[in-house]
Formats: sequence, C-alpha cells, structure tokens
Amino acid sequence: MRIGILGGTGDLGKGLAQRLSLHHEVMIGSREETKARSLADSYLQEVSSALGKKGEIKGFENGQVIRASDVIIIALPYNTVNAFLTQMQANFRKDQLVISPIVPMEKGQTGFFYNPYIIDGKEMSAAEVVSRALPNVESIASAFHTVPAARLADLSYKLDFDVLIASDSGDGWTRTASIVSDIEGLRPYYAGKLYLSRYLEPLTPLMLNVAINNRLKQPSLKIIAERKG
Ligand SMILES: NC(=O)c1ccc[n+]([C@@H]2O[C@H](COP(=O)([O-])OP(=O)(O)OC[C@H]3O[C@@H](n4cnc5c(N)ncnc54)[C@H](OP(=O)(O)O)[C@@H]3O)[C@@H](O)[C@H]2O)c1
Repeated sequence: MRIGILGGTGDLGKGLAQRLSLHHEVMIGSREETKARSLADSYLQEVSSALGKKGEIKGFENGQVIRASDVIIIALPYNTVNAFLTQMQANFRKDQLVISPIVPMEKGQTGFFYNPYIIDGKEMSAAEVVSRALPNVESIASAFHTVPAARLADLSYKLDFDVLIASDSGDGWTRTASIVSDIEGLRPYYAGKLYLSRYLEPLTPLMLNVAINNRLKQPSLKIIAERKG
C-alpha cells in the first residue's frame, strides 16, 4: 500500500515513515520537495543501519503525496491544518483513507492544555475539522495521538503501546487498525465514531501534564482490562 505522510519531515512523520516503510511504500510530504527527498534518504539510511532492513521512503511536495497515496496521514501542526486542507481539497479522492493524529494543544504557564478549534462558534476536534474540510473522502479516522514521536523515531526502542482509533466508517477503522498493527508493538483499539476524537485528542495534554508533575518522560497509553469470554 502507498502511505503518504503530509509533514513527513517533522517529528511524528519521521518515526511513522521509518517504521511503516518496512511494510509499505511510504511517501513523505513537505512544502519543499528537495527537503523531503533528502530526509527520505536519511530516514532510509537510519532504518538500514538500525534494523538491517530495507524500507521504501520517497520525498515529494505535499500535493504530489496526496494525489499518489492510498492512505494519507496528516502529520502537520494543528494550527496549519484547516487552511492547508482548504487549499489542497481538490487533490483528495473519495476512496482514500485519511488519518488524523492531530492534537490541538498549547503549553501555558501551568502546563499543557487542549485547544479545540472553534468553527462557526462550535468547538471541534481536529479529526472533525479534517472531516469537514474533506467532505468527499469516505474514510476518515483519528489515531496515533498518544504515541510519542521520539519513541517511534528511536528504532532501537521496543514499542508496547495501545492506539485508540475513532472513525465513522467500518472501512476507516479496519484499514487504520491494519496500519497500526503493521508497526511492531502497537495495538489498535476501536474507540468509536469520529466525534469521540473530542475525548481522544485531549489525552495527550493530560498525559504530558501527568508526566511533568511526576517526573516521567515520553508517556503513552496502555489499556488494562480483561477480554470478555
Ligand atoms: N510530536 C509528537 O510526539 C506527536 C504525537 C502524536 C501526535 N502528534 C501530532 O502530529 C502532528 C505533527 O506533529 P509534529 O510534532 O511532527 O509536528 P512538527 O514537527 O512541528 O511539524 C511537522 C511538519 O509540518 C510542516 N509544517 C510546519 N508548518 C507548516 C505550515 N504552516 N504549512 C504546512 N506545513 C507546515 C513542516 O514540514 P515542511 O517544513 O517540510 O513543510 C514540519 O516538518 C501534530 O498535529 C501533532 O499534534 C504529534
């Protein structure tokens, strides 16, 4: 499958690209094609020297990535997303899966806080903003919010995290779950419909505050429960 990562030159994009490149053809997007190309090469070199395996990562300008991908992960800063998608809307297709890991969050004097979008006077999660901006895309999912970029990009680190996924479409959930499972040590859980992103996205500032206040680093999530028979 061809997975495109918009803003794949950034912190989250790097580790996602490297780990997914072991199973998929990955395209990383940037506003500058030359930057994306040179980072794609260096990501691949790191995969090869850390894991002794060959991945596939190529770098392009974001618009090219959208047009050529089956799955698109929007790894962009939250405050750029609405304008970016409005400008790029025509590049998306109905049959693509779009995944939002976006966390609208700021750091204040007392710690991190969730900063939802206000659109037409209504609070919205990032995933709902993505869905609103891409009305023709049938499968939109929300995932990866609680996976720290630094852990993903440390290829010697053995991940052992759960990933909560929200989506309105069955196809969005199953395809996203399959991509999450392709990263060794990540387990997908279905949280529910896309509106539940309003609860998933604030988990990140919550966990970061817990980490700061208890001298922890790189917090992530694991659900402790027994499976029903
Ligand atoms: N970092 C984490 O641990 C983490 C974990 C879970 C979820 N997330 C979420 O994942 C998303 C990406 O996080 P990140 O930490 O990877 O972000 P980041 O490193 O700050 O930025 C990612 C990329 O966005 C592009 N970018 C920056 N400003 C832009 C603009 N005005 N227009 C278009 N592109 C722009 C840049 O690429 P170019 O300069 O190459 O264009 C940059 O490399 C965020 O929404 C974040 O909430 C992050």
